Amino acid sequence: MTKKITLRRPDDWHLHVRDDAVLKAVLPYTAEHFARAIIMPNLTPPVVRYQEATSYRARIKSIATATGWPSFEPLMTLYLTETSDPKNVRSGFESEAVVAAKLYPAGATTNSDAGVQKIEKIYPVLETMQEMGMPLLIHGEVVDSSIDIFDREAAFIERTLIKLVDRFPELPIVLEHITTVDGVDFVRGASNKVAATITPHHLVINRNAMLVGGIQPHYYCLPVAKRESHRAALVQAAVSGSRKFFLGTDSAPHTLDSKESSCGCAGIFNVPVALSVLAHIFEAADALDKLEGFCSVNGAEFYRLPLNEDSLTLVKSDTPVPFSDLIFTENGEIKVFDPMFDLYWSIEEQIR
Ligand code: DOR
Ligand code: ZN
Repeated sequence: MTKKITLRRPDDWHLHVRDDAVLKAVLPYTAEHFARAIIMPNLTPPVVRYQEATSYRARIKSIATATGWPSFEPLMTLYLTETSDPKNVRSGFESEAVVAAKLYPAGATTNSDAGVQKIEKIYPVLETMQEMGMPLLIHGEVVDSSIDIFDREAAFIERTLIKLVDRFPELPIVLEHITTVDGVDFVRGASNKVAATITPHHLVINRNAMLVGGIQPHYYCLPVAKRESHRAALVQAAVSGSRKFFLGTDSAPHTLDSKESSCGCAGIFNVPVALSVLAHIFEAADALDKLEGFCSVNGAEFYRLPLNEDSLTLVKSDTPVPFSDLIFTENGEIKVFDPMFDLYWSIEEQIR
């Protein structure tokens, strides 16, 4: 018997779509499944002022419309720097040009060089954000070279996040793409102002995927996947039904040449398979009834946005469903995340 599950249409609360040729190639994969997505601002140059977010949004909308998904809603974010202007952040949020701002510790990840070195420097912006209830999205890793890369999330929580939450208790905070039991425990124990996104790939891979049998650049992302016990804790959090955890794919396209290189980029492009992978994971945990909360409800409630009205149906086949391994862009091919198990769940044909 065919198994089906119908969800309120999902949203993606953490997404990289880039710009120009790559944007054109990747956006339809998101717009076909997701109603809205939080768009990361780490372009070069980064999206710092709300006026830049507005023109980036127009570019995204125009591609969404041209590819047949005019109702897709990009939710824009600002990239915080030590010279971010609180007045500009205020105008951006109040005019609904942007919904959140992203804190990248300088040097932590792709295009983060313009990020923040001394967190105190952005306190005036954080005061403004707290006053308005504007979410702060955090790449939670320290960049201290003396800290082992596998400990960088835990060290960030210990050294920075605990103090930040204490100093700004009313500020909505999303700890993005958590990868550790430390992240899960911190978020669980914090107030309801603190939530976390979890990616499909961190629910599937541990660090062996990246390092066993040769270096596997397509499983390299930041924060890096950790040991198995951490992955298991992430699955427990995702399927728990807790409203503090929701989907952020962190789908981050890089062309093959930039991944398969002596200095390969961090990022996993997972959007084409994201919902199929999640259905697999939730089913394996006997928690398909929690999938809708994770993908379609918890994030919207945290951001205080309305829930989507329409729906999407996932169907389970008796035989594995084929997915493309690569997508093509004018800049080169991009590899789609391979979860290393067969996928049986796919999205039922949608009537437009
Ligand atoms: O793996 C990642 N890729 N992590 C990030 O934080 C950034 C992202 C990207 O932009 O490629
Ligand atoms: Zn990201």
